[in-house]
Amino acid sequence: MRLFGKRKISLNAAPPLLQTLRLVLRGFDPSDAVDVLARAQGEAAGAMASAPPCQSHEESRRTVEGFIRGGSTWAVVEKRSGHVIGAVALGPDSGRAVEGALELGYTLGEQYRDQGYAVEACGAVLAYAFDELDSPVVGAGHELTNQRSRRVFKKLGFTCEGTMRCARTLSGGGYADEIRYSLLREEYRPAPK
Ligand SMILES: CC(C)(COP(=O)(O)OP(=O)(O)OC[C@H]1O[C@@H](n2cnc3c(N)ncnc32)[C@H](O)[C@@H]1OP(=O)(O)O)[C@@H](O)C(=O)NCCC(=O)NCCS
Repeated sequence: MRLFGKRKISLNAAPPLLQTLRLVLRGFDPSDAVDVLARAQGEAAGAMASAPPCQSHEESRRTVEGFIRGGSTWAVVEKRSGHVIGAVALGPDSGRAVEGALELGYTLGEQYRDQGYAVEACGAVLAYAFDELDSPVVGAGHELTNQRSRRVFKKLGFTCEGTMRCARTLSGGGYADEIRYSLLREEYRPAPK
């Protein structure tokens, strides 16, 4: 368990409720396995999506259990439909020396992309990371071909740090390079409401 920041919040506790204009971000519930299987996944292309999409209710149930146990993963709920459409996670960024460095990961169901939801959801989690947890820096990364994620990080104000080679283990074996990013607390600008 890591405790840091001005309010000494544990990253392993259930994530707090966050709201944006169109989304609610809340902790996962076991009953979310249905939505995770049906809506909140798609082509795997990034840090949170390095495992292949769930193929069965049982796999999806285990995935949701992992999110709940991990404690720092939000279910992204579309207010309009009430469905879980994706996930955003904050974890310790073990690649950085500074205390309280965090890593952001996220994924959205395929039918919910291209609506600005990724930027909206990640913006709320960044506000929590900097304003509530008092993290000095949030890191993130995407695979070389993931142009959609590149645009998300750019819109959120991240700085590209370059390519980390053999950054991640692939579920099918081998390693993938990753483009790495970071956003310092002093660089963070909340999105206009
Ligand atoms: C990466 C991923 C989350 C991006 O999702 P996304 O919906 O494309 O991201 P955004 O929130 O930036 O929305 C994209 C587009 O929605 C459009 N959009 C439509 N309505 C909008 C609105 N009301 N407000 C803002 N943007 C809107 C924007 O024009 C934007 O396009 P742009 O990038 O050309 O500006 C998604 O592709 C995904 O889940 N991929 C698989 C997993 C993955 O790669 N995860 C990331 C790991 S690093």
